[in-house]
Amino acid sequence: MNDFTALLDYDWMRAIHVIAVLALMAGLLMLPRFYAYQTGSEPGGELERKMIEASKKLNAIILTPALALTWIFGLATSAASNWIQFQMGWMHAKLALVVILTGLYAYYVAEGARLAKGERRRSEKFWRMMNEVPFLIAIAVVILAVVEPF
Ligand code: HEM
Repeated sequence: MNDFTALLDYDWMRAIHVIAVLALMAGLLMLPRFYAYQTGSEPGGELERKMIEASKKLNAIILTPALALTWIFGLATSAASNWIQFQMGWMHAKLALVVILTGLYAYYVAEGARLAKGERRRSEKFWRMMNEVPFLIAIAVVILAVVEPF
């Protein structure tokens, strides 16, 4: 194995990919919960200020880097195996769901910017429900990636 192929080792790429997925899911599950607390808090109060700060930090330190690394190392895993997965149905279904997860991330970030300005367009209940959506999508993604049913 030369230095280049060592860098692109399939198992290492896949391991880093799954670690990035863990951090991504932690972020996607925590952020709506912060938004729920923020939406339920007194406008201009201490809790609102703390939740705005926590949401910004979570996004900058965990969520955005984890999403980027999930994509980079997911694609690197496939590159290390000659893109073989892209010829399979489960991978197309997985990618479609991952694009939805990525869209959800963009939606969260946009809503977070509005919430930081004090614009509460959604209810606390809405954000509590949104808490479950990424988890349900992730269950389907993991089943597709591990079981490879079609
Ligand atoms: C961002 C785009 C993504 C790409 C391009 C990608 C690509 C890949 C590839 C090529 C593999 C190796 C599959 C194999 O041959 O066994 C893999 C494994 C895996 N991926 Fe992804 N993935 C992405 C996002 C995700 C997301 C968002 C999740 C979870 C929510 C996820 C969960 C997994 C898991 C659990 C494995 C390990 C499966 C196994 O090796 O048995 N991936 N991914």
